[in-house]
This record gives sequence, structure tokens and C-alpha cells, in this order.
Amino acid sequence: MTMDSNKKKTSYWQVSQQNSSDQGGWQEQNTIQAMEHLEEAAKLLRDGFIVAFPTETVYGLGADARNTTAVEAVFEAKGRPSDNPLIVHIANREQLSEFVSEINELSEALMNAYWPGPLTIILPLKPEVLSARVTAGLDTVGVRMPDHPVALQLLALAGCPVAAPSANRSGRPSPTLAEHVQADLDGRIEGIVDGGATGVGVESTVVQADADGTVTILRPGGITEEQLRTVASEVRMDPGLAAGNNEGLIAPRSPGMKYTHYAPKGSLCIVDGDASKVKDYIASRLHEAKEQGEITAVLAFSEHIDQYQADGLFSLGSMERLAEGAHLLYAALRSCDEIGASYILAEACPSEGLGAAIMNRLLKAAGHQIIHVT
Ligand code: TXA
Ligand code: MG
Repeated sequence: MTMDSNKKKTSYWQVSQQNSSDQGGWQEQNTIQAMEHLEEAAKLLRDGFIVAFPTETVYGLGADARNTTAVEAVFEAKGRPSDNPLIVHIANREQLSEFVSEINELSEALMNAYWPGPLTIILPLKPEVLSARVTAGLDTVGVRMPDHPVALQLLALAGCPVAAPSANRSGRPSPTLAEHVQADLDGRIEGIVDGGATGVGVESTVVQADADGTVTILRPGGITEEQLRTVASEVRMDPGLAAGNNEGLIAPRSPGMKYTHYAPKGSLCIVDGDASKVKDYIASRLHEAKEQGEITAVLAFSEHIDQYQADGLFSLGSMERLAEGAHLLYAALRSCDEIGASYILAEACPSEGLGAAIMNRLLKAAGHQIIHVT
């Protein structure tokens, strides 16, 4: 069989003209036509096909989580290693009892506080409901209820638990626009629901909540450590998250942590340290790289970006509002590829609040290359 005969016809459904992080606009455009589009997309999901859709974090590539053929198609389309389990998405809490065996008090408190929202909770799995491919054979499952009107509507119409990793080719930055999904997956999936730009811009926080009151962060994301502390008496980062530790020194509890992700094609290095020294260092390294014939790019905060000269200047917004950096990060990494950047530097930010998720993704994108200037 040739590659061409495997190519799928990808349907596109526009359900929002909004191209900003403002999701409020969707309600007004909740037209009959948008509903018809979502019915069509939901039917494809129910029939075992795979469809990309917007969430408040990044676009997801959805499949009926009970259908092994559908779930295998997701791994195939993404080129994703099959030992990395998928997050299951639901529209309402009643769906949990279908495939989760037990919910402890702390998990329930987290749901009360942050669902719908960018929080994935690892829960004990009821056997033989979901495809074993979703959980990569684990006896737990990561579940979340996304805070996005299009996602919630689609999930409700589909009526089944929907396994959905980010809708990018494995190793590429996660998609925050339908155009990113199209660039990676056109011809590999049955459809893309276009709801405009996602809001948060980095993936959900993945946590395990133990009966003893401890929340362990397996992947930092849209819900911050500080937010989790308002619910749990103890919150800790999984030791496997520490920089450079994901090569097997500590067995990763969240299998996704061990893969290199989000990497642009050029070489990327993060620069950390005292602000004025970071500025001088980046400016001079960009200059040298340019002289050596590199195509240069910099990811920097708006407070400093004007002081750099590079072929690509990509803003992460204000250092004072790290939500802007989270929102802009993946598109900035993709832009580096679009201009063919071969030499890329990124300013570090403090690992507080959303900064923890930004630094986690930047470090992965950079293969943990970081320079501390003093
Ligand atoms: O924001 C998000 O979470 C996006 C959107 C589409 O919802 N989804 C997403 O899915 O990022 P994915 O498949 O790219 O990431 C799943 C992460 C991986 O790090 C995986 O290892 C972890 O969740 N995970 C899933 N199930 C797990 C389990 N049972 N135990 C531990 N970690 C799990
Ligand atoms: Mg992903």
C-alpha cells in the first residue's frame, strides 16, 4: 500500500471566529451551524475515528477511550511511543463511575476546586472498560474535565470518555491554534474542530492525590502549586521532575516525563541568572552566532526584547504576568522552525506560579541545556 492510499481526508469545522484567548466570544457564535459541526465531529468520535478539538490548555486529539482501534490510530497519527498513557476527558462527573473504581476525599476536593479546568487527576482504574492502550497497561488513569465550551459540548455530544493527548506530532510543540494541528496532522486524522486560540497555552497539571493528604505534581501545568496548596495540606513535586533526572535515575512515575518534547529544529539553550547579565550574555552570543552564519532567534520577555538583535524576536509577554508566557510559548517555539532558526536562546523565568510549567517545557525543548550566568 502506498503512503497516499493511507492518507485520510481531514474535515475542518470552524466553530469560532475568535482568534484570541478570549473564549467569551464563543457563546455568541453558538449558532445552529456550530452545533451541527460539533454533532458531526461527535459522531465521528462515536464511530471510532479521531478528531482534534480545542481545550483551554492546548488542542487535543480525541478518540473513544473504550475503542482500541481508535486509540491505536491516535498513537499512529502522532507517532507517539505506546508506553506513554493518554489523559481521558469527560464532560461531567457522572461519567467517572463508568471507568474509575474509587475516588478519595482529596481527589474529590481537587475536583470541587479546579474542575472544569487544567488539572488532570490520576485515579484508580475500573478494569476492562477502557482500552488498555489508553493507560499503557497501568492500573490508574489520568482524567480531566476541560474548561472550554467547545470541548465540553463535544464531549457531551460524544457521550463517551475521550482519550486525548495534545494534537501535535510527537516531539513537536503542542498546538495552541487549529493551524498548528493542521501543519502536523492534516491527512492523518479525520477532523479538526477550529475554536480559535487556546487560553492557558501549556498543558494541564498532572497530579496524584494520596489518601494521607499529599498531592504529588507529576507534571506542572495550568494549575499552579500555589493553587493546589489552598486545597491540600502537603504539595510536592515528583522527584523525577528535577532537571536532568529524566534519563532513568529515578523511574518516572508519569511516563511522559522521560521523553524529549516540544523541541524546535535548531539548537535551543536557556539563559538564567541576574537580569542585566543575562541580557548582555544573550546579546553578545546572538551577535557571535550571526557572524558565524547562524539563523538566530530569541525568546524573551517584553521588558528586554527590544535590546536584542536576531532574525526572530519572539516575545513571551511580560515577566510580571507569566500567564502571557504560558499562552505564547508553544507558538514561539513553532515560529523558530518557521524562520529556519538554527541558533536559539531563551530567557529563563522564576519557577513560581505558571513559571514552573514554562520552565519545565522550556527545559524539555532545550534538552536541558541551560547556562547560569553570574
Ligand atoms: O492539557 C492537557 O492535559 C492536554 C489537553 C489536550 O487536555 N493533554 C495532554 O495529554 O497533554 P498528553 O497525553 O500529551 O499528556 C499526558 C500526560 C503524560 O505526561 C502522561 O505520562 C501522564 O499525563 N499520564 C497519563 N496517564 C497517567 C497515569 N495513569 N499515571 C501517570 N501519568 C499519567
Ligand atoms: Mg503532549
